[in-house]
Amino acid sequence: MKTFSLLNQKGGTGKTTSAVSLGAVWAEEDRDVLLVDLDPQASLSRWIGTSKPQCARFLKEKIGVSEAAVGTDWEHLDLVPADRSLAGLEDFRAGKLVRRLESLLAAAETVYDVCLVDPPPSTGSLVLTAMLSAEGIIAPVQTGQGALDGLTDTMGLIRQVGGTFEGAFACQVDIRTVNDSRVPELLKDKLGKNAYDTFIRETVQVKEAEAEHIPPPVYAPDATATEDYRNLATEIMTKTTEVAA
Ligand SMILES: Nc1ncnc2c1ncn2[C@@H]1O[C@H](COP(=O)(O)OP(=O)(O)OP(=O)(O)O)[C@@H](O)[C@H]1O
Ligand SMILES: [Mg+2]
Repeated sequence: MKTFSLLNQKGGTGKTTSAVSLGAVWAEEDRDVLLVDLDPQASLSRWIGTSKPQCARFLKEKIGVSEAAVGTDWEHLDLVPADRSLAGLEDFRAGKLVRRLESLLAAAETVYDVCLVDPPPSTGSLVLTAMLSAEGIIAPVQTGQGALDGLTDTMGLIRQVGGTFEGAFACQVDIRTVNDSRVPELLKDKLGKNAYDTFIRETVQVKEAEAEHIPPPVYAPDATATEDYRNLATEIMTKTTEVAA
């Protein structure tokens, strides 16, 4: 099982959108996908319309992945949902939470092919847990004013705390604007081979998909953002396989 955390300390960069979209693309390819919502805002859990009482139980006590995860309306796509009670864990020692998530992921290893962790935009224990438990960290970078600031902070945190930086991609790119169109190139200059070639175009159907509680690739299979997420999903898998080889 490959495990990735989507990370950017800046809010609203596209972490949750990328988790649900990449997850849905891989699920369509018949991979068994586990999404782990680590955000007290529970945006991912709301997006795919799944919640259950005591969502964060697996971080407080040792329970199996079959108890922690729930199915969704989409084949091959399961979710460990979040709720607001996760906020109470931000002050917990990260080490304890890391051990709990690692033990959940170890149990998931034989059941799933890929796992995506969606943390909140903070620097608290939940983010550290997402960073240290995943095999690779992927940063969605939003375009616009100060686009790279969140990435710079995130890379600084990885240097300080640890975790393996896998790569970054530009998100919500409005290709009609000069500034947005430059961001993928800026990422290449800053990160070299750690910048993904694929960027995600801003597409109105992504917001519609969120409002309809459907993953974008299912809601709008022909949308530009869906095409981009398909390409990104392939690029991520190809790069990790090359690195592992
Ligand atoms: N490619 C896109 N085109 C249009 N809208 C998008 C696109 N990607 C993301 N959005 C919208 O931008 C908003 C923020 O995205 P998202 O919730 O994924 O960010 P986030 O990084 O998870 O935020 P937070 O830091 O609060 O967890 C959402 O309303 C989402 O629908
Ligand atoms: Mg989010």
